[in-house]
Amino acid sequence: MGSVEWDRDLAEVYDAMYADQFASDAADAMVEVLAELAGDGPVLELAVGTGRIALPLAAKGVDVHGIELSRHMVQQLRAKRGGGAIPVAVGDMTTARVAGRFSLVYLVANTIMNVTTQDEQLMVFANAAEHLEDGGCFVVEVVVPQLHAIPPGERSRVFTLEPNHVGIETLDDRVGQIAWSHHWMSVDGRLVQHSAPYRYVWPSELDLMARINGFRLRDRWADWQRSTFTESSTTQVAVFEKVSSVDQPVR
Ligand SMILES: C[S@@+](CC[C@H](N)C(=O)[O-])C[C@H]1O[C@@H](n2cnc3c(N)ncnc32)[C@H](O)[C@@H]1O
Repeated sequence: MGSVEWDRDLAEVYDAMYADQFASDAADAMVEVLAELAGDGPVLELAVGTGRIALPLAAKGVDVHGIELSRHMVQQLRAKRGGGAIPVAVGDMTTARVAGRFSLVYLVANTIMNVTTQDEQLMVFANAAEHLEDGGCFVVEVVVPQLHAIPPGERSRVFTLEPNHVGIETLDDRVGQIAWSHHWMSVDGRLVQHSAPYRYVWPSELDLMARINGFRLRDRWADWQRSTFTESSTTQVAVFEKVSSVDQPVR
């Protein structure tokens, strides 16, 4: 099962839907951390979307490139000031390649989960490794699965209940780790409904996918302020460093 390509309706309301995240201190902190990890090198954002992070990062002088599945999201990026200057390959981050080697590849906003099989999530790690120079980092921001939030015997929970946004998660396949999120949003008086599957992924599983692809875990924080990750953390920022091929353990 491949990723669902986001359509024009969703692309048009994405920025308004996530206006809080755009404006938040978290986005500023994210840009700071990514700029620091980038050093002097160019960076690649997998699933760059409308440029929520790519644009402020580029405004700091970082050379940002992107890969993005939805041409509608890319159209939104292109319409923004500075959006035309970010090279974006339209394609699937499991396989799409761009020229060059990067000091940093990053995948934020839970988007590793939009890839809905374990094999394809492994392919994302492999693709990140292919684009990185030795010692470069692959940063993944993703929630920690909250299965315990769903009461025994139930298969769904409301995860957002705002006047303009109702979000329900259904656990559809606990073996394949597939859940669906269903959104009903009112954006500028327009009702938008969006449902998509995602594959939730455990921290230890991410680490193993990383090791299989020649990375080692350098850091895992609970947020972009680099808070300590604990058993009660609900989200994570994992920083994987690409180990040079000569330093990789013999299996
Ligand atoms: C939650 S948005 C995140 C966008 C941006 N990274 C941000 O932080 O605002 C998820 C994005 O992932 C893209 N996407 C989903 N699956 C993808 C895939 N397999 N390859 C590339 N992009 C993908 C969607 O089209 C969408 O733009």
